Amino acid sequence: MDKILILDFGSQTTQLIARRIREQRVYCEIHPFDTDEARIRAFGAKGIILSGGPTGVYQLDAPDCADLVFELGVPVLGICYGQQLMVKRLGGQVQASEQREYGRAKLEMLHPDGLFSGLEQDAGEVWMSHGDRVERLPEGFEVLAKSSSSPFAAVADPKRKLYGVQFHPEVVHTIRGVEMLANFAFELCGCQPGWTMASFVDRAVEAIRAKVGREQVLCALSGGVDSSVVAALLHRAIGEQLHCIFVDNGLLRHGERAGVEEVFGRHFGMDLVVVDAAERFVSALEEVADPERKRKIIGETFIRVFEEEARRRQGVRFLAQGTLYPDVIESVNVRGPSAVIKSHHNVGGLPAQMDLELIEPLRELFKDEVRTLGEALGLPAGLVGRQPFPGPGLGIRVIGAVSASRLEVLRRADHILQEELRTSGCLEQTWQAFVVLLPVRSVGVMGDERTYDETAVVRAVTSLDGMTADWARLPSEVLARVSNRIINEVRGINRVLYDISRKPPATIEWE
Ligand code: XMP
Repeated sequence: MDKILILDFGSQTTQLIARRIREQRVYCEIHPFDTDEARIRAFGAKGIILSGGPTGVYQLDAPDCADLVFELGVPVLGICYGQQLMVKRLGGQVQASEQREYGRAKLEMLHPDGLFSGLEQDAGEVWMSHGDRVERLPEGFEVLAKSSSSPFAAVADPKRKLYGVQFHPEVVHTIRGVEMLANFAFELCGCQPGWTMASFVDRAVEAIRAKVGREQVLCALSGGVDSSVVAALLHRAIGEQLHCIFVDNGLLRHGERAGVEEVFGRHFGMDLVVVDAAERFVSALEEVADPERKRKIIGETFIRVFEEEARRRQGVRFLAQGTLYPDVIESVNVRGPSAVIKSHHNVGGLPAQMDLELIEPLRELFKDEVRTLGEALGLPAGLVGRQPFPGPGLGIRVIGAVSASRLEVLRRADHILQEELRTSGCLEQTWQAFVVLLPVRSVGVMGDERTYDETAVVRAVTSLDGMTADWARLPSEVLARVSNRIINEVRGINRVLYDISRKPPATIEWE
Protein backbone atom coordinates (compact mmCIF):
# COMPACT_ATOMS: atom_id res chain seq x y z
CA MET A 1 0.00 0.00 0.00
CA ASP A 2 1.31 3.44 -0.98
CA LYS A 3 2.00 5.73 1.94
CA ILE A 4 2.79 9.35 2.62
CA LEU A 5 4.85 10.50 5.57
CA ILE A 6 3.89 13.74 7.29
CA LEU A 7 6.54 15.36 9.45
CA ASP A 8 4.97 17.50 12.13
CA PHE A 9 6.55 20.85 12.96
CA GLY A 10 3.86 21.72 15.47
CA SER A 11 1.11 23.28 13.39
CA GLN A 12 -2.42 23.07 14.73
CA THR A 13 -3.56 21.82 11.35
CA THR A 14 -1.15 18.89 10.93
CA GLN A 15 -3.90 16.38 11.66
CA LEU A 16 -6.04 18.03 9.01
CA ILE A 17 -3.33 17.37 6.43
CA ALA A 18 -3.44 13.70 7.36
CA ARG A 19 -7.20 13.56 7.14
CA ARG A 20 -7.27 15.22 3.73
CA ILE A 21 -4.71 12.74 2.40
CA ARG A 22 -6.59 9.80 3.82
CA GLU A 23 -9.83 11.09 2.33
CA GLN A 24 -8.08 10.48 -0.98
CA ARG A 25 -7.67 6.89 0.15
CA VAL A 26 -3.96 7.26 0.52
CA TYR A 27 -2.54 6.05 3.82
CA CYS A 28 -0.40 8.47 5.75
CA GLU A 29 1.08 8.86 9.19
CA ILE A 30 2.19 11.83 11.23
CA HIS A 31 5.62 11.62 12.82
CA PRO A 32 7.66 14.18 14.74
CA PHE A 33 9.85 16.55 12.72
CA ASP A 34 13.04 15.02 14.16
CA THR A 35 12.22 11.44 13.17
CA ASP A 36 15.56 9.82 12.44
CA GLU A 37 16.79 8.64 9.06
CA ALA A 38 16.42 4.95 9.79
CA ARG A 39 12.74 5.36 10.65
CA ILE A 40 12.12 7.59 7.65
CA ARG A 41 13.70 5.01 5.39
CA ALA A 42 11.83 2.14 7.02
CA PHE A 43 8.50 3.90 6.60
CA GLY A 44 8.86 3.65 2.84
CA ALA A 45 6.92 6.76 1.88
CA LYS A 46 6.07 7.59 -1.73
CA GLY A 47 6.05 11.24 -0.69
CA ILE A 48 6.77 13.43 2.31
CA ILE A 49 4.84 16.44 3.59
CA LEU A 50 6.44 18.95 5.93
CA SER A 51 3.76 20.62 8.04
CA GLY A 52 3.51 24.18 9.20
CA GLY A 53 4.66 25.24 12.62
CA PRO A 54 4.51 28.10 15.09
CA THR A 55 8.21 29.03 15.05
CA GLY A 56 10.45 30.89 12.63
CA VAL A 57 13.20 29.04 10.75
CA TYR A 58 15.90 31.35 12.12
CA GLN A 59 14.79 31.07 15.71
CA LEU A 60 17.13 29.43 18.14
CA ASP A 61 16.33 25.70 18.24
CA ALA A 62 13.98 26.01 15.26
CA PRO A 63 12.76 22.47 14.49
CA ASP A 64 14.63 20.82 11.66
CA CYS A 65 14.37 17.50 9.86
CA ALA A 66 16.86 14.88 8.74
CA ASP A 67 18.90 15.57 5.58
CA LEU A 68 17.51 12.38 4.14
CA VAL A 69 14.14 14.07 3.56
CA PHE A 70 15.63 16.06 0.68
CA GLU A 71 17.85 13.25 -0.57
CA LEU A 72 15.48 10.33 -0.69
CA GLY A 73 14.28 11.23 -4.17
CA VAL A 74 10.57 11.05 -3.31
CA PRO A 75 8.46 14.21 -3.78
CA VAL A 76 8.43 16.58 -0.81
CA LEU A 77 5.75 19.18 -0.15
CA GLY A 78 6.56 21.87 2.38
CA ILE A 79 3.59 23.75 3.80
CA CYS A 80 4.20 27.17 5.36
CA TYR A 81 7.01 26.50 7.85
CA GLY A 82 7.77 23.41 5.79
CA GLN A 83 8.26 25.57 2.72
CA GLN A 84 10.50 28.01 4.55
CA LEU A 85 12.58 25.23 6.02
CA MET A 86 13.02 23.65 2.61
CA VAL A 87 14.08 26.96 1.09
CA LYS A 88 16.50 27.71 3.90
CA ARG A 89 18.00 24.23 3.90
CA LEU A 90 18.58 24.25 0.16
CA GLY A 91 20.34 27.61 0.02
CA GLY A 92 17.56 30.14 -0.44
CA GLN A 93 16.67 32.95 1.88
CA VAL A 94 13.82 33.46 4.28
CA GLN A 95 12.87 36.80 5.74
CA ALA A 96 12.23 36.69 9.45
CA SER A 97 9.19 38.58 10.59
CA GLU A 98 7.85 39.41 13.98
CA GLN A 99 4.32 39.66 12.69
CA ARG A 100 2.11 36.89 11.44
CA GLU A 101 0.06 37.40 8.32
CA TYR A 102 -3.37 35.85 8.55
CA GLY A 103 -6.13 35.70 6.06
CA ARG A 104 -7.41 34.94 2.62
CA ALA A 105 -5.41 35.65 -0.50
CA LYS A 106 -6.03 35.17 -4.17
CA LEU A 107 -3.63 32.94 -6.02
CA GLU A 108 -2.24 33.90 -9.41
CA MET A 109 -1.12 30.76 -11.19
CA LEU A 110 1.98 30.71 -13.35
CA HIS A 111 2.12 26.93 -13.88
CA PRO A 112 -1.29 25.30 -13.84
CA ASP A 113 0.07 21.78 -13.84
CA GLY A 114 1.63 19.37 -11.35
CA LEU A 115 0.48 20.56 -7.96
CA PHE A 116 -2.17 22.73 -9.58
CA SER A 117 -3.19 20.34 -12.31
CA GLY A 118 -6.87 20.63 -13.21
CA LEU A 119 -7.20 23.99 -11.50
CA GLU A 120 -6.46 25.94 -14.72
CA GLN A 121 -6.10 29.63 -14.00
CA ASP A 122 -8.43 29.76 -11.07
CA ALA A 123 -7.26 28.23 -7.85
CA GLY A 124 -9.65 30.43 -5.90
CA GLU A 125 -8.77 31.74 -2.50
CA VAL A 126 -6.09 30.33 -0.27
CA TRP A 127 -5.54 30.73 3.45
CA MET A 128 -2.35 32.34 4.65
CA SER A 129 -1.10 32.13 8.19
CA HIS A 130 2.62 32.68 8.47
CA GLY A 131 5.28 34.76 10.14
CA ASP A 132 8.47 34.40 8.09
CA ARG A 133 8.37 34.45 4.30
CA VAL A 134 10.59 33.32 1.48
CA GLU A 135 12.77 36.07 -0.02
CA ARG A 136 15.04 34.25 -2.46
CA LEU A 137 14.70 30.80 -3.96
CA PRO A 138 17.39 28.12 -3.92
CA GLU A 139 18.95 27.19 -7.21
CA GLY A 140 16.69 25.09 -9.41
CA PHE A 141 13.50 26.45 -7.90
CA GLU A 142 10.83 28.38 -9.78
CA VAL A 143 7.67 30.21 -8.83
CA LEU A 144 4.44 28.27 -9.44
CA ALA A 145 2.01 30.85 -8.11
CA LYS A 146 2.01 34.21 -6.41
CA SER A 147 -0.47 36.32 -4.55
CA SER A 148 -0.71 40.07 -4.17
CA SER A 149 1.26 39.93 -0.94
CA SER A 150 3.58 37.03 -1.62
CA PRO A 151 5.68 36.56 -4.71
CA PHE A 152 6.53 33.01 -3.59
CA ALA A 153 3.08 31.67 -2.67
CA ALA A 154 3.96 28.35 -4.33
CA VAL A 155 7.38 27.26 -5.51
CA ALA A 156 9.00 24.11 -6.88
CA ASP A 157 12.10 22.45 -8.11
CA PRO A 158 10.35 20.00 -10.44
CA LYS A 159 13.59 18.15 -11.24
CA ARG A 160 14.19 17.28 -7.63
CA LYS A 161 10.42 16.95 -7.04
CA LEU A 162 10.45 19.50 -4.24
CA TYR A 163 7.39 21.68 -3.71
CA GLY A 164 6.53 24.40 -1.27
CA VAL A 165 3.41 26.45 -0.56
CA GLN A 166 3.18 29.40 1.73
CA PHE A 167 -0.55 28.92 2.32
CA HIS A 168 -2.40 26.04 3.99
CA PRO A 169 -4.03 23.70 1.45
CA GLU A 170 -5.47 21.54 4.26
CA VAL A 171 -7.91 24.11 5.66
CA VAL A 172 -11.36 24.70 4.20
CA HIS A 173 -10.64 28.38 3.54
CA THR A 174 -8.28 27.25 0.78
CA ILE A 175 -11.05 26.61 -1.67
CA ARG A 176 -9.29 24.02 -3.84
CA GLY A 177 -6.79 22.81 -1.30
CA VAL A 178 -8.10 19.25 -1.36
CA GLU A 179 -7.38 19.04 -5.10
CA MET A 180 -3.87 20.34 -4.54
CA LEU A 181 -3.16 17.67 -1.93
CA ALA A 182 -4.71 15.05 -4.19
CA ASN A 183 -2.45 16.25 -7.02
CA PHE A 184 0.54 15.88 -4.75
CA ALA A 185 -0.43 12.35 -3.75
CA PHE A 186 -1.49 11.03 -7.15
CA GLU A 187 0.25 13.08 -9.85
CA LEU A 188 3.49 13.89 -8.13
CA CYS A 189 4.01 10.92 -5.81
CA GLY A 190 2.24 8.40 -8.03
CA CYS A 191 0.22 6.92 -5.16
CA GLN A 192 -2.60 4.49 -5.79
CA PRO A 193 -5.72 4.97 -3.66
CA GLY A 194 -5.38 1.70 -1.76
CA TRP A 195 -6.49 2.80 1.71
CA THR A 196 -10.07 1.52 1.83
CA MET A 197 -12.06 0.20 4.75
CA ALA A 198 -12.47 -3.14 3.03
CA SER A 199 -8.70 -3.52 2.80
CA PHE A 200 -8.34 -2.30 6.38
CA VAL A 201 -10.80 -4.92 7.64
CA ASP A 202 -8.91 -7.69 5.87
CA ARG A 203 -5.58 -6.63 7.29
CA ALA A 204 -6.95 -5.98 10.78
CA VAL A 205 -8.73 -9.33 10.94
CA GLU A 206 -5.56 -11.11 9.94
CA ALA A 207 -3.45 -9.20 12.46
CA ILE A 208 -5.92 -9.83 15.29
CA ARG A 209 -6.05 -13.54 14.55
CA ALA A 210 -2.28 -13.75 14.43
CA LYS A 211 -1.94 -11.96 17.75
CA VAL A 212 -4.76 -13.66 19.64
CA GLY A 213 -4.28 -17.19 18.43
CA ARG A 214 -6.55 -19.40 20.53
CA GLU A 215 -6.63 -17.05 23.52
CA GLN A 216 -9.66 -15.22 24.90
CA VAL A 217 -10.26 -11.45 24.62
CA LEU A 218 -12.24 -9.17 26.87
CA CYS A 219 -13.88 -5.99 25.60
CA ALA A 220 -15.44 -3.23 27.69
CA LEU A 221 -18.42 -2.21 25.62
CA SER A 222 -19.75 1.26 26.41
CA GLY A 223 -22.24 1.59 23.59
CA GLY A 224 -20.19 4.44 22.14
CA VAL A 225 -18.88 4.37 18.60
CA ASP A 226 -15.29 3.36 19.35
CA SER A 227 -15.90 0.40 21.64
CA SER A 228 -18.77 -0.77 19.44
CA VAL A 229 -16.55 -0.81 16.38
CA VAL A 230 -13.77 -2.58 18.29
CA ALA A 231 -16.25 -5.25 19.39
CA ALA A 232 -17.66 -5.73 15.90
CA LEU A 233 -14.19 -5.97 14.37
CA LEU A 234 -12.96 -8.45 16.97
CA HIS A 235 -16.09 -10.47 16.63
CA ARG A 236 -15.50 -10.70 12.90
CA ALA A 237 -11.93 -11.84 13.57
CA ILE A 238 -12.27 -14.24 16.48
CA GLY A 239 -15.99 -14.84 17.04
CA GLU A 240 -16.59 -16.72 20.26
CA GLN A 241 -13.17 -15.95 21.69
CA LEU A 242 -14.48 -12.43 22.30
CA HIS A 243 -16.31 -11.62 25.53
CA CYS A 244 -17.98 -8.25 25.93
CA ILE A 245 -18.82 -6.64 29.22
CA PHE A 246 -21.31 -3.81 29.36
CA VAL A 247 -21.58 -2.05 32.70
CA ASP A 248 -24.96 -0.45 33.32
CA ASN A 249 -23.85 2.27 35.71
CA GLY A 250 -27.26 3.90 36.03
CA LEU A 251 -25.85 6.99 34.34
CA LEU A 252 -26.92 6.03 30.86
CA ARG A 253 -29.38 7.69 28.55
CA HIS A 254 -32.84 6.36 27.88
CA GLY A 255 -32.84 3.06 25.98
CA GLU A 256 -29.08 2.72 25.88
CA ARG A 257 -28.78 -0.61 27.61
CA ALA A 258 -31.60 -2.12 25.59
CA GLY A 259 -29.92 -0.89 22.41
CA VAL A 260 -26.63 -2.55 23.28
CA GLU A 261 -28.37 -5.83 24.15
CA GLU A 262 -30.28 -5.73 20.89
CA VAL A 263 -27.34 -4.98 18.60
CA PHE A 264 -24.55 -7.00 20.20
CA GLY A 265 -26.44 -9.70 22.02
CA ARG A 266 -29.23 -10.53 19.61
CA HIS A 267 -28.14 -9.18 16.23
CA PHE A 268 -24.46 -10.14 16.34
CA GLY A 269 -24.94 -12.97 18.81
CA MET A 270 -21.88 -12.00 20.81
CA ASP A 271 -21.07 -13.29 24.24
CA LEU A 272 -22.30 -10.22 26.11
CA VAL A 273 -22.53 -9.79 29.85
CA VAL A 274 -24.60 -6.87 31.07
CA VAL A 275 -23.63 -5.97 34.60
CA ASP A 276 -26.36 -4.23 36.52
CA ALA A 277 -24.34 -1.89 38.72
CA ALA A 278 -26.64 1.14 38.80
CA GLU A 279 -27.21 1.01 42.53
CA ARG A 280 -23.55 0.68 43.25
CA PHE A 281 -22.65 3.75 41.21
CA VAL A 282 -25.53 5.87 42.43
CA SER A 283 -24.92 5.11 46.08
CA ALA A 284 -21.22 5.87 45.64
CA LEU A 285 -22.21 9.23 44.18
CA GLU A 286 -24.79 10.20 46.74
CA GLU A 287 -24.02 13.54 48.33
CA VAL A 288 -21.12 14.14 45.93
CA ALA A 289 -21.39 17.47 44.11
CA ASP A 290 -17.82 18.14 43.05
CA PRO A 291 -17.35 17.28 39.35
CA GLU A 292 -13.83 15.95 39.64
CA ARG A 293 -14.75 13.75 42.58
CA LYS A 294 -17.70 12.45 40.62
CA ARG A 295 -15.43 11.55 37.72
CA LYS A 296 -13.00 9.85 40.05
CA ILE A 297 -15.66 7.83 41.81
CA ILE A 298 -17.30 6.81 38.54
CA GLY A 299 -13.94 5.80 37.05
CA GLU A 300 -12.88 3.80 40.07
CA THR A 301 -16.21 2.09 40.50
CA PHE A 302 -16.09 1.14 36.85
CA ILE A 303 -12.67 -0.42 37.23
CA ARG A 304 -13.76 -2.40 40.26
CA VAL A 305 -16.93 -3.70 38.63
CA PHE A 306 -15.07 -4.56 35.48
CA GLU A 307 -12.31 -6.35 37.37
CA GLU A 308 -14.80 -8.44 39.28
CA GLU A 309 -16.45 -9.51 36.05
CA ALA A 310 -13.12 -10.17 34.39
CA ARG A 311 -11.99 -12.36 37.27
CA ARG A 312 -14.94 -14.61 36.65
CA ARG A 313 -13.52 -15.34 33.26
CA GLN A 314 -10.45 -17.39 33.84
CA GLY A 315 -7.86 -17.58 31.16
CA VAL A 316 -8.55 -14.29 29.46
CA ARG A 317 -5.33 -12.88 28.15
CA PHE A 318 -6.22 -9.75 26.17
CA LEU A 319 -8.16 -6.57 26.68
CA ALA A 320 -9.49 -4.79 23.60
CA GLN A 321 -9.58 -1.01 23.64
CA GLY A 322 -10.78 1.65 21.21
CA THR A 323 -7.69 3.85 21.19
CA LEU A 324 -7.77 6.11 18.12
CA TYR A 325 -4.99 7.61 16.04
CA PRO A 326 -5.23 11.13 17.51
CA ASP A 327 -4.36 9.62 20.92
CA VAL A 328 -1.36 7.85 19.46
CA ILE A 329 0.28 10.67 17.51
CA GLU A 330 3.30 11.85 19.45
CA SER A 331 2.57 15.46 20.16
CA VAL A 332 5.31 17.74 18.96
CA ASN A 333 6.53 20.30 21.36
CA VAL A 334 8.43 23.06 19.61
CA ARG A 335 7.87 25.86 22.11
CA GLY A 336 8.91 24.54 25.47
CA PRO A 337 6.41 22.79 27.71
CA SER A 338 3.14 23.56 26.00
CA ALA A 339 -0.24 23.17 27.60
CA VAL A 340 -1.43 20.19 25.60
CA ILE A 341 -5.14 19.83 26.22
CA LYS A 342 -5.68 16.21 27.11
CA SER A 343 -8.86 14.42 26.27
CA HIS A 344 -10.77 12.78 29.06
CA HIS A 345 -10.07 9.14 29.55
CA ASN A 346 -12.56 6.62 30.73
CA VAL A 347 -11.02 3.23 31.09
CA GLY A 348 -7.48 4.39 31.67
CA GLY A 349 -5.57 2.27 34.14
CA LEU A 350 -7.39 -0.96 33.47
CA PRO A 351 -4.65 -3.06 31.91
CA ALA A 352 -1.96 -2.10 34.41
CA GLN A 353 -4.04 -3.40 37.26
CA MET A 354 -5.40 -6.40 35.49
CA ASP A 355 -2.37 -7.82 33.85
CA LEU A 356 -4.01 -8.09 30.47
CA GLU A 357 -2.31 -7.46 27.19
CA LEU A 358 -3.83 -4.69 25.10
CA ILE A 359 -5.36 -5.02 21.68
CA GLU A 360 -6.01 -1.68 20.03
CA PRO A 361 -7.17 -2.34 16.49
CA LEU A 362 -8.25 1.27 15.83
CA ARG A 363 -4.86 2.81 16.58
CA GLU A 364 -4.37 3.82 12.95
CA LEU A 365 -7.76 5.44 12.47
CA PHE A 366 -9.31 8.86 12.74
CA LYS A 367 -12.81 9.16 14.16
CA ASP A 368 -14.50 9.53 10.78
CA GLU A 369 -12.68 6.43 9.56
CA VAL A 370 -13.92 4.54 12.61
CA ARG A 371 -17.47 5.42 11.58
CA THR A 372 -16.86 4.22 8.04
CA LEU A 373 -15.39 1.03 9.45
CA GLY A 374 -18.44 0.58 11.67
CA GLU A 375 -20.68 0.80 8.62
CA ALA A 376 -18.50 -1.68 6.75
CA LEU A 377 -18.88 -4.09 9.68
CA GLY A 378 -22.66 -3.81 9.58
CA LEU A 379 -23.29 -1.72 12.68
CA PRO A 380 -26.59 0.21 12.55
CA ALA A 381 -26.36 3.76 11.17
CA GLY A 382 -27.87 5.19 14.36
CA LEU A 383 -25.03 3.72 16.38
CA VAL A 384 -22.23 4.58 14.00
CA GLY A 385 -23.37 8.18 13.61
CA ARG A 386 -24.12 8.82 17.25
CA GLN A 387 -22.93 11.84 19.12
CA PRO A 388 -20.16 11.68 21.69
CA PHE A 389 -21.29 10.85 25.18
CA PRO A 390 -19.00 11.31 28.17
CA GLY A 391 -17.84 8.25 30.08
CA PRO A 392 -19.23 9.58 33.40
CA GLY A 393 -22.53 9.94 31.59
CA LEU A 394 -25.47 11.66 33.22
CA GLY A 395 -23.44 11.76 36.44
CA ILE A 396 -21.81 14.98 35.27
CA ARG A 397 -25.04 16.37 33.80
CA VAL A 398 -26.96 16.17 37.04
CA ILE A 399 -25.38 19.24 38.59
CA GLY A 400 -25.04 18.96 42.35
CA ALA A 401 -25.62 15.76 44.26
CA VAL A 402 -26.58 12.75 42.18
CA SER A 403 -29.60 10.66 43.11
CA ALA A 404 -31.59 7.99 41.33
CA SER A 405 -34.62 10.26 41.11
CA ARG A 406 -32.73 13.27 39.71
CA LEU A 407 -31.06 10.96 37.19
CA GLU A 408 -34.46 9.74 36.08
CA VAL A 409 -35.77 13.31 35.71
CA LEU A 410 -32.77 14.20 33.55
CA ARG A 411 -33.08 10.99 31.53
CA ARG A 412 -36.67 11.78 30.61
CA ALA A 413 -35.93 15.37 29.68
CA ASP A 414 -32.95 14.32 27.58
CA HIS A 415 -35.03 11.70 25.81
CA ILE A 416 -37.57 14.36 24.82
CA LEU A 417 -34.80 16.58 23.44
CA GLN A 418 -33.34 13.69 21.42
CA GLU A 419 -36.77 12.78 20.03
CA GLU A 420 -37.61 16.33 19.02
CA LEU A 421 -34.23 16.90 17.39
CA ARG A 422 -34.54 13.67 15.48
CA THR A 423 -38.07 14.23 14.18
CA SER A 424 -37.35 17.85 13.24
CA GLY A 425 -34.20 16.81 11.37
CA CYS A 426 -32.10 19.06 13.62
CA LEU A 427 -30.05 16.33 15.25
CA GLU A 428 -27.58 16.20 12.36
CA GLN A 429 -27.05 19.94 12.61
CA THR A 430 -25.64 19.56 16.09
CA TRP A 431 -22.38 17.97 17.10
CA GLN A 432 -23.68 17.24 20.55
CA ALA A 433 -27.04 17.99 22.15
CA PHE A 434 -28.17 17.13 25.64
CA VAL A 435 -29.94 18.33 28.76
CA VAL A 436 -28.32 19.40 32.02
CA LEU A 437 -30.26 19.40 35.28
CA LEU A 438 -29.55 22.30 37.62
CA PRO A 439 -30.19 22.17 41.37
CA VAL A 440 -31.89 25.54 41.12
CA ARG A 441 -35.54 25.71 42.00
CA SER A 442 -37.94 28.31 40.79
CA VAL A 443 -41.63 28.96 41.21
CA GLY A 444 -44.10 27.99 38.53
CA VAL A 445 -47.79 27.31 38.05
CA MET A 446 -49.23 24.06 36.78
CA GLY A 447 -53.02 24.28 36.46
CA ASP A 448 -54.08 25.63 39.80
CA GLU A 449 -51.02 24.43 41.58
CA ARG A 450 -47.88 26.25 42.46
CA THR A 451 -44.72 24.32 41.62
CA TYR A 452 -41.25 24.74 43.00
CA ASP A 453 -39.06 22.59 40.78
CA GLU A 454 -35.62 22.32 39.27
CA THR A 455 -34.28 23.81 36.05
CA ALA A 456 -33.31 22.06 32.82
CA VAL A 457 -30.72 23.52 30.48
CA VAL A 458 -30.70 22.49 26.84
CA ARG A 459 -27.15 22.45 25.50
CA ALA A 460 -26.74 21.99 21.74
CA VAL A 461 -23.48 22.80 19.99
CA THR A 462 -21.88 22.74 16.59
CA SER A 463 -18.25 21.73 16.48
CA LEU A 464 -15.66 19.89 14.42
CA ASP A 465 -13.78 18.07 17.14
CA GLY A 466 -15.09 19.27 20.48
CA MET A 467 -12.06 21.47 21.07
CA THR A 468 -14.00 24.57 20.11
CA ALA A 469 -17.76 24.82 19.83
CA ASP A 470 -20.54 27.26 19.17
CA TRP A 471 -24.13 27.05 20.34
CA ALA A 472 -26.40 25.63 17.67
CA ARG A 473 -28.89 28.05 16.16
CA LEU A 474 -31.84 25.70 16.61
CA PRO A 475 -35.13 26.92 15.15
CA SER A 476 -37.21 28.63 17.81
CA GLU A 477 -40.19 26.41 17.09
CA VAL A 478 -38.11 23.33 17.88
CA LEU A 479 -36.90 24.91 21.12
CA ALA A 480 -40.49 25.82 21.95
CA ARG A 481 -41.64 22.23 21.47
CA VAL A 482 -38.77 20.87 23.53
CA SER A 483 -39.51 23.31 26.35
CA ASN A 484 -43.27 22.63 26.33
CA ARG A 485 -42.82 18.91 26.32
CA ILE A 486 -40.20 18.83 29.06
CA ILE A 487 -42.22 21.06 31.37
CA ASN A 488 -45.47 19.20 30.68
CA GLU A 489 -44.16 15.66 30.67
CA VAL A 490 -41.33 15.61 33.19
CA ARG A 491 -42.31 16.05 36.78
CA GLY A 492 -39.54 17.80 38.65
CA ILE A 493 -38.72 20.39 35.97
CA ASN A 494 -40.73 23.61 35.57
CA ARG A 495 -38.27 25.80 33.68
CA VAL A 496 -36.13 25.23 30.57
CA LEU A 497 -33.17 27.39 29.54
CA TYR A 498 -31.10 27.37 26.35
CA ASP A 499 -27.34 27.66 26.77
CA ILE A 500 -25.90 30.27 24.38
CA SER A 501 -22.24 30.07 25.43
CA ARG A 502 -19.35 29.34 23.13
CA LYS A 503 -16.37 27.15 23.88
CA PRO A 504 -14.00 28.68 24.76
CA PRO A 505 -14.45 30.26 27.22
CA ALA A 506 -17.31 27.99 28.32
CA THR A 507 -17.00 24.21 27.92
CA ILE A 508 -19.50 21.93 26.27
CA GLU A 509 -20.44 20.07 29.44
CA TRP A 510 -21.38 21.97 32.57
CA GLU A 511 -19.15 19.90 34.82
P1 XMP B 1 -15.88 19.85 27.35
O1 XMP B 1 -16.97 19.87 28.35
O2 XMP B 1 -14.52 19.70 27.95
O3 XMP B 1 -16.12 18.54 26.51
O4 XMP B 1 -15.97 21.01 26.40
C1 XMP B 1 -15.48 18.19 25.31
C2 XMP B 1 -15.98 16.82 24.92
O5 XMP B 1 -15.55 15.86 25.89
C3 XMP B 1 -16.66 15.20 26.46
N1 XMP B 1 -16.36 14.97 27.88
C4 XMP B 1 -15.99 13.79 28.38
N2 XMP B 1 -15.82 12.59 27.77
N3 XMP B 1 -15.22 11.64 29.84
C5 XMP B 1 -15.47 11.53 28.52
O6 XMP B 1 -15.36 10.44 27.99
C6 XMP B 1 -15.35 12.81 30.53
O7 XMP B 1 -15.13 12.88 31.74
C7 XMP B 1 -15.76 13.93 29.75
N4 XMP B 1 -16.00 15.24 30.04
C8 XMP B 1 -16.36 15.84 28.87
C9 XMP B 1 -17.83 16.13 26.24
O8 XMP B 1 -19.05 15.42 26.25
C10 XMP B 1 -17.50 16.72 24.91
O9 XMP B 1 -17.86 15.84 23.86
